Amino acid sequence: MSNLNPIAWIGDAATGHLRLLDQTQLPARETYLDCTDVQSVWDAIKRLSVRGAPEIGIAAAYGCVIGAQHNQFDHAADHLATSRPTAVNLFWAIDRMRRVQRREVHALLVEAKAIHDEDRRMCRSIGDYGLPLLRQHTTNGQAVLTHCNAGALATGGIGTATAPMYVAHEQGLPFRVFADETRPLLQGARLTACELQRAGIDVTLICDNMAAQVMREGKVGMVIVGADRIAANGDAANKIGTYGVAVLARHHHIPFYVAAPSSTFDLSIPDGSHIPIEQRGSEEITEGFGRRTAPDHVQTYSPAFDVTPASLIAAIITERGLIEPVTMQRVRQVIDSR
Ligand code: MRU
Repeated sequence: MSNLNPIAWIGDAATGHLRLLDQTQLPARETYLDCTDVQSVWDAIKRLSVRGAPEIGIAAAYGCVIGAQHNQFDHAADHLATSRPTAVNLFWAIDRMRRVQRREVHALLVEAKAIHDEDRRMCRSIGDYGLPLLRQHTTNGQAVLTHCNAGALATGGIGTATAPMYVAHEQGLPFRVFADETRPLLQGARLTACELQRAGIDVTLICDNMAAQVMREGKVGMVIVGADRIAANGDAANKIGTYGVAVLARHHHIPFYVAAPSSTFDLSIPDGSHIPIEQRGSEEITEGFGRRTAPDHVQTYSPAFDVTPASLIAAIITERGLIEPVTMQRVRQVIDSR
């Protein structure tokens, strides 16, 4: 696995703090942010220094501990919940912190670390369940295609979409990965290509608009992506562009898989039309490459996520097993199984 450590609690409960790898600086610089107040955690989530659904949840849990250090647990929990709207893991983790009986720093830190550790284990289990699929669909040299970063940088462990890749690599299985660069913020290029390359996995970067051609050339055997929120019927929100990849995969008869832990499911909403979609600032489109690439005052529209309908998903790989076929009944069976 890549040796980047995206999130860590440093020190004890009373005086410790949260250390985050600043992912906005990757791959050029490996710099860390030391967060000692709630606002700095909120800012880090908002500007995507820490990102990826499970990791946002873990960061918010530690942020609640920092709030308690300043006798402001409730304010911290309420405030952190406003940082980003789509990833349900954020709200799931904050709810867990609110349910801690003794609202003091030691008990809260134990819960935050438990959330972090559980995520690590869930990633591993997703990898184990996903491995046979990866083996099945890459035997004739075809690659896995992924979009955005649902990797070690987005979770407490070996990632979700990348988990089967890390497990396969550990077992010496030969396979290739195509990473979509993922406009506008390039998580695929800056993060997925970076962490897979550092781990020694055979990764090839493509621009988002090359996926159709690469599929037509027969180079892709399967798609695996992560998710930020999955509705009760299996509709799955993930980074903008994912839905397009799913449509392309269906056209080319390529199986499209979503990998996500149970903490990413929102069974309170019947389908994907209820998932709140984050809107991002125009500068992420007009100045995304560090310089102006569009005329001044041009109008932009920038949804950060889209929803892939369950009908396009071959299976959802969870730490509790495969959801296959992707139906409301099967989602309940697997996610409510413990
Ligand atoms: O905006 P980001 O970078 O937080 O978006 C991340 C994604 O869309 C990931 O694919 C998703 O969170 C899955 S994380 C394992």
